[in-house]
Amino acid sequence: MAETVLALLDPAGGEPTLADPTAPVLRADDFGVVRGESVFETMRIAGGRARFVDAHLARLARSAQRLAIDLPPGWDRLAEVAAGAYAQPDGVLRLTCSKGPPGGAPVGFALASEIPAETIRGREQGVRAITLTLGVTAGVRATAPWLLGGVKATSYAINMATLRHAQAEGVEDAIWVSTDGEVLEAPTSTVAWVKDGRLVTPPAGEVALLPGTTLDVVLGLCPAPYEVRRGTVAELAEADEVLLLSSVRGVAPVTELDGRQLGTGPLTAQLRESFEAALSYS
Ligand SMILES: Cc1ncc(COP(=O)(O)O)c(C=O)c1O
Repeated sequence: MAETVLALLDPAGGEPTLADPTAPVLRADDFGVVRGESVFETMRIAGGRARFVDAHLARLARSAQRLAIDLPPGWDRLAEVAAGAYAQPDGVLRLTCSKGPPGGAPVGFALASEIPAETIRGREQGVRAITLTLGVTAGVRATAPWLLGGVKATSYAINMATLRHAQAEGVEDAIWVSTDGEVLEAPTSTVAWVKDGRLVTPPAGEVALLPGTTLDVVLGLCPAPYEVRRGTVAELAEADEVLLLSSVRGVAPVTELDGRQLGTGPLTAQLRESFEAALSYS
């Protein structure tokens, strides 16, 4: 197992520094700690480099703006230094920017670590999932920006509680649905499905979902027609294939949804392979 790497962003714009990964980084009164006001990005390290960094940094900037975090510069270099110092060619790179203490500056850092075994298992063998309500209508988050739909903030306690609930129900993942019966997203991934050879995924902007960087890549690689449109739970229940997309796990087949066996469909398997290949030449 490779040592976790911690790299710290220099608020003065200098070169990032490596630090003991167990060293404390945040003050106890940092708004990221006391109010969950931090933003983050998680990306794949492949071949010793962080992948699709530009897309992740663009999203980090958008998330920071939504939380009124004055994002300092230097993230590109921070990602490069952390991924470069990590001893393995493959890993997870997590960038975090915390709002900082009252009157203080935001704090940025990067952690490079091992890809968890269950993440790789989910990619290779698929995940079982259940649909769970997010408790909102599909349209509300787009018209109520304070609900922070589409923002990657560290206020992910609801996302983690959703996953724990799914696990308690005996499956590995969950798909959030709206109270008016639309498919939204998963706690840590984008949802897509295949029906009659067409890939369908909900529109991130219109429904205020997190715009997935993996989805973007996958749509560019997709050999089949695709539709970015709102879809219902009933449609999902009749889909031929269901996929969960995220940077580190990649393309994960949903092999069972709400007790219905799906297995790994042919388009899912093809996209999984193309995405893994794209990681190496990005
Ligand atoms: C809520 C949510 N949706 C979608 C995604 C997928 O985003 P990406 O493909 O950029 O990893 C994530 C990733 O963490 C997420 O947390």
